[in-house]
Amino acid sequence: MEVLLSRQQIADRVAELGAQITLEYAGKSVVLIGVLKGAAIFLADLARAIKVDATFDFVAVSSYGRARVSSGAVKLIKDIDNPIEGLHVILVEDILDTGLTLSYLRGLMLQHKPASLKIATCLDKPDRRLVPMDADYIAFKIPNHFVIGYGMDYAENYRNVEDIRLFPEEAVGH
Ligand code: PRP
Repeated sequence: MEVLLSRQQIADRVAELGAQITLEYAGKSVVLIGVLKGAAIFLADLARAIKVDATFDFVAVSSYGRARVSSGAVKLIKDIDNPIEGLHVILVEDILDTGLTLSYLRGLMLQHKPASLKIATCLDKPDRRLVPMDADYIAFKIPNHFVIGYGMDYAENYRNVEDIRLFPEEAVGH
């Protein structure tokens, strides 16, 4: 599969984002909330590039129908473990696609009254948006390609591929 973004390109960009977040959160601590499962690898790298105190939490959602048949229905499967009221939170995603997942999660997290809430995503596919949603920290904007690797899957496979690769369109759905 053709490499879209190499491990080195990703590492360089994640280092930049980490440095930016470190500056912006100087003197504060931050809660990184990863959206399982895709965001796990990006979160692991981004967290180590952030040089302020950070804690982790994770949420899981099911988004049946998303991507191919967009029902728009997003359901929470796993909530955060610890309260975030009054804390600085960054929601961490692997990919911002239709925007349905982050739009739902953003609304949910705001109900917990964090001191601030920002969104970091490894990839942004702006062409695919069904609802308005912007991330504050974006590693890469990409066109509408199906990609795997660096946490992203096809039918749960390829998450451990080191770089981000183009999954052949003709194989999607098979
Ligand atoms: C992917 C990704 C985001 C969501 C983005 O998750 O991790 O959570 O889709 O898409 P959206 O902007 O269209 O809502 P997926 O359902 O593939 O689960 P995974 O993270 O376990 O791979």
